[in-house]
Amino acid sequence: MGCVNVKKQTKLRMKVTPSSTVVTDNSRRSSYELPSPSPSDYEPLSFLGAGGFAEVTACKHIRTKSIKAQKKIPKSKLKPYHLHQSKKPKEVHILESLDHPNIVSFFEYFEDRENYYLITEICKGNSLYSNLIKSGKFSEKKVKESMFQVLQAVEYLHDKKIVHRDIKPENVLLTSSNGSHVKLSDFGSADEIGVNKKLFGGFGSVFYLAPEVIIGEYNEKVDIWSCGVMMWVLLTGKQPYIEKDAKTIKERIVQRPLQPCQIELGGLSCDGLDFMKKMLEVDSEKRISATEALEHKWFEDCRKKYE
Ligand SMILES: Nc1ncnc2c1ncn2[C@@H]1O[C@H](COP(=O)(O)OP(=O)(O)O)[C@@H](O)[C@H]1O
Ligand SMILES: [Mg+2]
Repeated sequence: MGCVNVKKQTKLRMKVTPSSTVVTDNSRRSSYELPSPSPSDYEPLSFLGAGGFAEVTACKHIRTKSIKAQKKIPKSKLKPYHLHQSKKPKEVHILESLDHPNIVSFFEYFEDRENYYLITEICKGNSLYSNLIKSGKFSEKKVKESMFQVLQAVEYLHDKKIVHRDIKPENVLLTSSNGSHVKLSDFGSADEIGVNKKLFGGFGSVFYLAPEVIIGEYNEKVDIWSCGVMMWVLLTGKQPYIEKDAKTIKERIVQRPLQPCQIELGGLSCDGLDFMKKMLEVDSEKRISATEALEHKWFEDCRKKYE
């Protein structure tokens, strides 16, 4: 999840915080009421990860014994614009409408006085970010496989007029530790974009912000820019900007945004470089769309494998 005052950028270093136990008192629930989901339906297991907003733990659904992920978001962290008119977090409203093999499946949500709890499928292979920390950088083949799947999720979202606004390696999860199936997660910064409607506001994580997000109004093409930055980060294992604080990074993005360079990306194929250039096109009108991206020559082998 991102925020209006752009998130403090996570360093390329693993962050581990302790898991939490969730207990609520359901004893006074009337036996005539349909049981509504509650934190006590789940037994917390191990810690999976934490972001700027939430803490995520593996949990067991006590009745069915199935293992899921539970994202606990303190209500104190959410602003009114994080809530849908139905009073649910927008993240829940959006997740409920999604069904795609490259998007984390959502099951149910509940709340107590302090927190919202989102139950989703568990992705046992951790995030691309954690995997990048372990391996330093990814091969072009691995990056291509991940990008192709993420862009399939992005195409689906954009067709549904949903903008993710926080695409980065921390929010792309591997379903298993030895596989290559990835799923886009964390819809805490996502929003719906009506026909011809523009979005405003600096959601997302600073390194991945498109120049137009910092300048003013924008549309779904910001996700493509973030994909371009993510591709660069996965290939190099480096942070895209050397500037230290969010304000200077934002100034840098407006004045001299990330541009792919053959020397830095040593070994990247000509097709890969051309593809990255098209995603990191500063003019969002000219920037490639998700559908066009999936048709790029670089993905020729992926199209055969995944379609
Ligand atoms: N479904 C899941 N399965 C496994 N790990 C997860 C899952 N969802 C989130 N995580 C881990 O928890 C971290 C934080 O979750 P995220 O939804 O991104 O929270 P935030 O909104 O605070 O950024 C992720 O970067 C990832 O490491
Ligand atoms: Mg996140």
